[in-house]
Amino acid sequence: MNQYIINGNHPLFGEITISGAKNAAVAIIPAALMVDGVCRIENIPQISDVTLLFSILDELGAKVRVLNQHAVEIDSRHIHSTKPSPDMVRKIRASYYLIGALLGRFGQASVAMPGGCNFGVRPIDQHVKGFKALGAEVTEGNYVHAAAKSASGRLQGANVYLDVVSVGATMNVMMAAALAEGTTVIENCAKEPHIVDLANFLNSMGADIKGAGTDTIKVRGVERLNGGTYCIIPDQIEAGTYMTAVAATGGQLLIKNIIPKHMECISAKLMEMGVYVEEMDDTLLVRRTGPLQRTNVKTQPYPGFPTDMQPQIAAVLSLAQGTSLVTEAVWSNRFRYVDELRRLGAQIQVDGRVAVIEGVDCFEGAPVEACDLRAGAAMVVAALAAKGTTEISNVQFIERGYEDLVGKLRSVGADIRIVDVPDEALTTESIG
Ligand code: EPZ
Repeated sequence: MNQYIINGNHPLFGEITISGAKNAAVAIIPAALMVDGVCRIENIPQISDVTLLFSILDELGAKVRVLNQHAVEIDSRHIHSTKPSPDMVRKIRASYYLIGALLGRFGQASVAMPGGCNFGVRPIDQHVKGFKALGAEVTEGNYVHAAAKSASGRLQGANVYLDVVSVGATMNVMMAAALAEGTTVIENCAKEPHIVDLANFLNSMGADIKGAGTDTIKVRGVERLNGGTYCIIPDQIEAGTYMTAVAATGGQLLIKNIIPKHMECISAKLMEMGVYVEEMDDTLLVRRTGPLQRTNVKTQPYPGFPTDMQPQIAAVLSLAQGTSLVTEAVWSNRFRYVDELRRLGAQIQVDGRVAVIEGVDCFEGAPVEACDLRAGAAMVVAALAAKGTTEISNVQFIERGYEDLVGKLRSVGADIRIVDVPDEALTTESIG
């Protein structure tokens, strides 16, 4: 197991190029199972969640050919199983996309569900509601077994109203509907950029999906998806994490390969805090010279402030002048990282879904743990600003979602290195 050792309190200067979006990739790779042909996917982030998904696809009979660091070809013409290995599936939350993809194409899927959860109850009732509406019989236990009930073995288009705005349910139902007979209308959809990206991927393979990015998505089922080429969008949260890093340390970063529109919810908050943010085509210039000002943040589905940036912004607000409130409105328990941040000197009180943050002048380095992916990112942000040395353990969580975080930060002047430590503390809890 690796640890990160960070000697903080150095401003960051330079350029960072953002990788492909994790939460788009972890849906698009399973969706490649729906393609009765060969698809080439570009701008794939090199992260462990992606590597794991390739292994799952390979085991089901897809041929995954790595073309270069960020591009693969997936040939799903000869899939021989609709029951992926539970051991691999349980390691990644996004494995629920295998249900929509396999059910959509083959009319059946048996997928183990990931155990445990890191930030509150993570039900999949809305996914199941959608599959049932499309004519599947679904049973849930250690596995989710889903099978189309119609004589043709295909799902049937239907109207699906989601009771909760859910990213996963929106994407899963959209996938399943893409190869159904007839038209599906999904209402109360999530609007995150990765939903639009998945719809664009499926459309580029021959699907007929309209309205992704709004709260109503209309899917006209087609008989088959053919091969094609697709390039994944840049990662909004990776970009936001580096924005918060420079906000915490001071300095100036040029953050390249972003979609400015996706960054507005994060830029707006940082500007309120006194950080300079300038948008230029596919690049953001982020500079912090003066003190940070307090503000309040409430997480919301897109285009609101993303829950996946909540720990990182809390780390920065801990260094702002005055008292800030952070309200977590998406997950019921996403403040587990607060105890770790306190080890560095943060003054935070949590009451239910609200964290009250009293800004402090500086952090002091200490040993801390990454308790999940974004919690880990927040530890890195805080450690970069802390005086002295911080050791971050459990960084395998961070490596699930950030490509070459250490290399990228070193290239802009951070004193961060990876060290190997004995394996005994390795946890396998799933997130993402
Ligand atoms: C996705 O999770 C992301 N994961 C999460 O990213 C992200 O935090 C979340 O969306 C919200 O943006 C992936 O894309 C792999 P939801 P997802 O369904 O789809 C409730 C990261 O750090 N709900 O939008 O699982 C649920 O309990 C992560 O990259 C139901 O009640 O999230 C939650 O309160 C971790 N029933 C809310 O909806 C359901 O059937 C939003 O969850 C589904 C969800």
